[in-house]
Amino acid sequence: MKTIRWGILGTGRIAHKFASDLKLVKDAELVAVGSRSQKSADDFNKKFPVKHVHDSYEALVQNPEVDVIYIATPHNLHCENTLLCLRHNKAVLCEKPFAMNSRQAATMISYAKEQKVFLMEALWTKFHPHYLKMQEMIGEGLLGKVRAILVNFGFKPITPIPARLFDPGLGGGTLMDIGIYNVFIAMSILGKPDHIDAVMTPASTGVDEQCAILFRYKNGAMAQLFSTFSSNLATEADICGSEGRIRLTSRFYEPSSTVEFYNERVDSREIIPVAKEPGFGYQYEARHVNDCLRKGLTESPVVSFNDTLLLMETLDKIRDVAGIRYPADEVDGRN
Ligand SMILES: NC(=O)c1ccc[n+]([C@@H]2O[C@H](COP(=O)([O-])OP(=O)(O)OC[C@H]3O[C@@H](n4cnc5c(N)ncnc54)[C@H](OP(=O)(O)O)[C@@H]3O)[C@@H](O)[C@H]2O)c1
Repeated sequence: MKTIRWGILGTGRIAHKFASDLKLVKDAELVAVGSRSQKSADDFNKKFPVKHVHDSYEALVQNPEVDVIYIATPHNLHCENTLLCLRHNKAVLCEKPFAMNSRQAATMISYAKEQKVFLMEALWTKFHPHYLKMQEMIGEGLLGKVRAILVNFGFKPITPIPARLFDPGLGGGTLMDIGIYNVFIAMSILGKPDHIDAVMTPASTGVDEQCAILFRYKNGAMAQLFSTFSSNLATEADICGSEGRIRLTSRFYEPSSTVEFYNERVDSREIIPVAKEPGFGYQYEARHVNDCLRKGLTESPVVSFNDTLLLMETLDKIRDVAGIRYPADEVDGRN
């Protein structure tokens, strides 16, 4: 089978982790990197040697030897960078949040459809063994009816604090950076909420330093979701049903998380065995993208365009309720 040739756009923290995990993917090769500066591209190349080192994103997307590009830039650039890749017929795996708002997401998706080029949101948790085990257990009815989901995600950024965490221009704030995982996990179990309550504490820059969300469902289920940059939290998720509870231990969105099952039928607590493999956990989504490309797909059956749009629309609604706004909203004409 043909080796899938990857390029990475942006050379920050996550780009390094992804490059490291790509080594665990059979039939994948990291062949190129693109950076805003030659120095960053060269530094990246010292750690992860690649055939092509580009000093601009434009040069990367024009490289005929690249099949697919992983976008690892700050949130505010995801739309622009994705459109650039698609314009040059490069398949795209775009980091979360997929875009700054649902309008941008819709533009990206409709352009991918028009170009008939693969595009997927890098929602890596959806491919992790612990997450799949949790879904399987819920599907088998082990929890009975899911009535509540409680998720917390919090850390205190350490100096030097990355600009993108608090800069509104870069899409800063907890909701878009970490709260998105809380929202995703609640929706992947309970679906689209019927009612959303949300409040936030603004940082000095205006972005949300803390964000508390309550999803309510017509059947009485609820999800309570909290994200913060002010405290180091357990970063766990509890999925509570009429017959039992699953706890995804810290950090619930990473493959190192453990699945604990509290079975109320027999009053027991069990740690559910889940296969682990080395790496940070980005290899799973990369393998999926490889599979999709080999099959000639332009949309992932696991992270569908509808899933991505629904998540972005829900983030928009939460932001409307909590009062979280970005310059990108003005550019797009949202009001
Ligand atoms: N899935 C996950 O687990 C996970 C974890 C962390 C982050 N992320 C996502 O990945 C994205 C990048 O996060 P990160 O932590 O890697 O960020 P980062 O360390 O700040 O790196 C971002 C890179 O984007 C490029 N860039 C372009 N314009 C920039 C600007 N105006 N300011 C700063 N950087 C700019 C830079 O690369 P060049 O200078 O080389 O162009 C920079 O190194 C975010 O959207 C984040 O949500 C996902």
